[in-house]
Amino acid sequence: MTATSTTMTGRQRFLAAANRQQVDATPVWFMRQAGRCLPEYRAMREKHAFLTMARTPELAVEATLMPVDRFGVDGAVLFADIMLPLDGMGIAYEIRPGIGPVIAHPIRTAEDIDRIRVVDPEEGTPYVLEALRQLQAALGDRAATLGFAGAPFTLACYLVDGRPSREYPKTKALMYGRPDLWDQLMTKLAEITCRYLEGQARAGTGVVQLFDSWLGLVDPVTYAERIAPYTARIFSRLREIVPTIHFSTGTVQLLPEIAATAPAMVSVDWRLPLDRAWDLIGSGMGIQGNLDPTLLMAPWEVIAGGARDVLVRAGGRPGHIFNLGHGLLPETDPDQLTRLVDLVHTTTAR
Ligand code: CP3
Repeated sequence: MTATSTTMTGRQRFLAAANRQQVDATPVWFMRQAGRCLPEYRAMREKHAFLTMARTPELAVEATLMPVDRFGVDGAVLFADIMLPLDGMGIAYEIRPGIGPVIAHPIRTAEDIDRIRVVDPEEGTPYVLEALRQLQAALGDRAATLGFAGAPFTLACYLVDGRPSREYPKTKALMYGRPDLWDQLMTKLAEITCRYLEGQARAGTGVVQLFDSWLGLVDPVTYAERIAPYTARIFSRLREIVPTIHFSTGTVQLLPEIAATAPAMVSVDWRLPLDRAWDLIGSGMGIQGNLDPTLLMAPWEVIAGGARDVLVRAGGRPGHIFNLGHGLLPETDPDQLTRLVDLVHTTTAR
């Protein structure tokens, strides 16, 4: 093998890194790569509503493949949303453009929690499993398929507050004030999420990511007592079946506690340099990250400098997947992403 040749397929490279094995180059994908910044996605959205696309396997697969074709990423994250399992739970919601998920009747009482249905994804969200099967067939070995789900805490934020919010005060009031109800809700959400991700693994997905997007709102003691046990339950159920990635943002204060929930990898944002975040997670665990998505608005030399800094801090250690610290911004120039994928691959080729 020469210094710059790559010998693995995108799928092999991604799965090897997720299992902390040697790779021929660092694998890379971008959160929110499907949609948002691509003109071909916007053209599709002119014709179909977002939830229609997510619930129609052929359309979801088409949107999933767009960034793989254009950027050459090693991971293909299914075009879907963390809210889809609500279909199986029997909870009505919509996704309002520019706002986000809105629940018709927020979950506040014991009766509301009792009414949440716990079903297998084959019954609740069969289109997600079908989309994953079609995606594998269409992708082959080009890239690993990535499934995902919202973590119980982040789902609870939407279910209890009922809509996007800065502080999720109703959710946190339930967590602090009614530990009995909180446990019932989180137990149900953890069970639903386990079944949902197990179903995705059965449908052949290579890796799954658990999005705990609003975790930055809590302190380490509350996290360890009221949230982490449910997260840990999910990772423990999935451990033998599929590699897992824990995602959160704004959680510098929680990194050791997050690592203790024992995913295969922890996704970190840009608020700490990658090597310092990796020290807090522990060298025995993989890491994903951590370029600031707003850096992509800067001139190419600045982007390249930021990316090289991440790679230097990763130091060629096994178990690094290159990504942003959070989702792409809609105003990102797609051509910069193609260049960035190439830079990550060529800089790290070994
Ligand atoms: O990464 C990808 O490209 C795959 C698809 C994906 C979507 N949502 C598609 C989507 C993923 C991984 C998600 C996860 C998701 N959804 C999260 C966790 C990630 C994070 O950013 O922290 C959260 C919190 C949600 C809930 C949600 N759904 C929000 C906040 C929004 C944005 C609302 C808006 O218009 O700004 C959505 C809608 C959504 N999900 C869109 C897409 C492409 C936009 C829909 C559109 O095209 O109008």
